[in-house]
Amino acid sequence: MSSLTAHSQGSAATHDTLSSALPTPAQPGPFGHKQRKNFFMPEGKTEFNHGSYGTFTRSVQENMMKWHNRVEENPDRWTRLDLKPALIKVRTQLAEFMNCDKDELALVQNTTIGVNTILRSLDFIPGDRILQLSTLYDAVDKTTRYICDTHKDVEIIEVPIVMPLTDHEIVFQVEKMIQDHLAKKDGSRIRLAMIDWISSVPAVLHPIKALVDMLKSYGILVFVDAAHVIGQVPIDLTYLNPDFLITNCHKWLYSVRGSAVLFVPKRFQSSIHPTSIQVAYKTGGFENEFSWSGTLDYSTILSIEGALEFRKQYGEDAIIHYCHRLAVEGGAKMAEILGTNVLTPHEHQVGNMVNVRLPIKNINDPKLQTPDYLIRLLLDKYNLFTPSFKHGGYFWTRVSAQIYLELSDFEHLGRVWKEVIDELNAENA
Ligand SMILES: Cc1ncc(COP(=O)(O)O)c(C=O)c1O
Repeated sequence: MSSLTAHSQGSAATHDTLSSALPTPAQPGPFGHKQRKNFFMPEGKTEFNHGSYGTFTRSVQENMMKWHNRVEENPDRWTRLDLKPALIKVRTQLAEFMNCDKDELALVQNTTIGVNTILRSLDFIPGDRILQLSTLYDAVDKTTRYICDTHKDVEIIEVPIVMPLTDHEIVFQVEKMIQDHLAKKDGSRIRLAMIDWISSVPAVLHPIKALVDMLKSYGILVFVDAAHVIGQVPIDLTYLNPDFLITNCHKWLYSVRGSAVLFVPKRFQSSIHPTSIQVAYKTGGFENEFSWSGTLDYSTILSIEGALEFRKQYGEDAIIHYCHRLAVEGGAKMAEILGTNVLTPHEHQVGNMVNVRLPIKNINDPKLQTPDYLIRLLLDKYNLFTPSFKHGGYFWTRVSAQIYLELSDFEHLGRVWKEVIDELNAENA
């Protein structure tokens, strides 16, 4: 049995302290393994993939249960009188958090729904083009393809992105694609750009302000997929000024899964409707259309209140600072163990997720093509998981830093991946 299958989270493993675990001006924490008690991870399980599904704290679950209980105690009072003010309160708190008007926010269940809401409300006409990066999230890419399939002469223009690139190079490549398109003078127009603020795989924090400003200067509508952003990077919507933005609160903000917020400026609201049309259509206006999606459990959305309370308690800036430093330093540590590198040398392109190159000799190894092979190996043998993917001719893994992790966890993960890859490479020798 591998010595790596059992990983201790005890304090003995914490000798190699993260340099940034020191108090910051925001008076944080404490962070690291002391935070494990606030989450639900059982002893022996370390979570390295917060980015995929997020997780919430015990206090957030209590907050959600508070809403649950209120509904069950009096469903009529709740649904007919209390639900709407509760949703308004959450929107008000989020508006303050993201610096915008609460009436420009709609609460939806996830980014997939938010993306569908906007794309399926817009009146695409023949000749419209949708600009997107090749690293766009799969489900979002499928939605833009659905729009093309269901509208005559609407097509995607894809900007190939192979990291590492500087911010300047990313903006340049997108702008060059626009200029090449304009030079064709074929009567089509780029109507909308669908841009990830933080892409999923590889995880890259894009120069979003520069991209939004540049795209808008060409008269292109900009829809920012910020699925990973709230809780990972500060959002100032008044400053960023996108046309649409969606962000998942259930990833990095710590609310319960099924809670996201969609930004729709007032100038667009009359033409945007929920994906499931409901009773307020054409009579209730934007706020009412998005305050009731039929009979549903709204406690996940309302748990955003509990998530914001938890973040206030431990320090918003401190949480962001700790996770980012851990991603940077943890990624470097893993790369050292694996004898490889992280995807980007530019720390500001890293949020809380870091991509580390895996030294796999044969990236076309049939085992790696078997969908569940690495998932089962990592979960069954080592009781941990990080997603892995091909990018630019190499194999990478994406690791999520979080306030319950320490540098020693990244070292452990690095050694696990080394053992997995050494065995794989030996079979291919
Ligand atoms: C960039 C990006 N967009 C959209 C999504 C979809 O989010 P959800 O599954 O919550 O709808 C994800 C999920 O990981 C993502 O990473």
